[in-house]
Amino acid sequence: MTSTPTVDLADRFRRHAEMSDRMGAPLYAALTRAMADDWAAGGVVRTICAGWDEATESDLVSLRFLGSLHRLVLTGRAPSLVAYYRNLGGTRAPDDVWPVARSVIEAFADDIRADLAVVPQTNEVGRSVALLVALFRAAAQTGLTRIRLLEVGASAGLNLLIDRYRFEGPGWSWGPAESPVCFDVDATVEARPIEIVARRGCDLEPVDPTTPAGRLRLKSFVWPDNVERYRRLEGALDVAARWPVRVDRSEVSPWLRERLAESVDDDVLTVVWHSVVWQYLDPVARRESESVIAAAAERMPLAHASMEPADLSRAADIVLTLTTYDAGQASTTELGRPHPHGLPLRLSSGAAS
Ligand SMILES: C[S@@+](CC[C@H](N)C(=O)[O-])C[C@H]1O[C@@H](n2cnc3c(N)ncnc32)[C@H](O)[C@@H]1O
Repeated sequence: MTSTPTVDLADRFRRHAEMSDRMGAPLYAALTRAMADDWAAGGVVRTICAGWDEATESDLVSLRFLGSLHRLVLTGRAPSLVAYYRNLGGTRAPDDVWPVARSVIEAFADDIRADLAVVPQTNEVGRSVALLVALFRAAAQTGLTRIRLLEVGASAGLNLLIDRYRFEGPGWSWGPAESPVCFDVDATVEARPIEIVARRGCDLEPVDPTTPAGRLRLKSFVWPDNVERYRRLEGALDVAARWPVRVDRSEVSPWLRERLAESVDDDVLTVVWHSVVWQYLDPVARRESESVIAAAAERMPLAHASMEPADLSRAADIVLTLTTYDAGQASTTELGRPHPHGLPLRLSSGAAS
């Protein structure tokens, strides 16, 4: 006897629609609602998703499907949909999007089916605002301003390019004024004259932002109604094309072990940073990584900046922390509870100085 999953794909698509409503993403709300109905009625969406019926929430089937559709639009193969994609200048309300989308989906059914294998991958540049606050604080606490930045789970490495972005807040600014990525920061922080003297990242599945395929992949997983995020990503991709960074394909702890065995000048502060990565590591890998970092702190000036869910089993409620070390003693400070995409920062009192 075959068991019927208690949550089917139509339910998953409907949940995605509800989340899209809450997040102010009307296009994806309309599309996922229609996809749910089409799947339940045995339409083209059901045919494309055959074999994915047992998928769990973390398989993100709706995002895989929508990412594939977005790539069709971004590459000019679905011009009839452009009018609905705000990131591409579209202004049309999504009320009547489904018949248009369905005919595109029918025409490219084989491509979308093959594309379901593409794992959703993002690199959220907005998180560099939180990183900057952590770097300022680390510099203030240690008195060191020359920084070696090591990012684990770096994706395309876009946040390693933090010193190529512009940040402006009440009474302060930092970074090149001509940068194509500019953040209007909602907090007063004490900017410090920090310098990134070395940078490198690792990821299990790094995305190369200097290739058309890498750029397309990252863009396709930004929700089209999130115009500001999309523009920011476009700017960061331009920066990455000009100043490529190295992101090694690696698990976190072996990579950290290697990097932290390298010698660095005494006046360089090594900052290990990660955002929305820890939840993907198993508890053993997390503990191992933390002990590699703590052991290295006995040999060199080091700080550990983290922007992760406060409760790793739930993605919301992000906490920004900085851990510094003194004579083998770790001290962790909560700097704020930023939005998962970075802004608003919602800094803790005292975090900004
Ligand atoms: C949600 S993304 C965040 C990417 C980036 N830190 C950011 O904030 O935009 C999570 C990243 O962690 C990477 N990842 C997951 N498990 C990993 C592991 N065990 N070792 C290294 N990277 C991992 C994924 O490939 C993905 O790029």
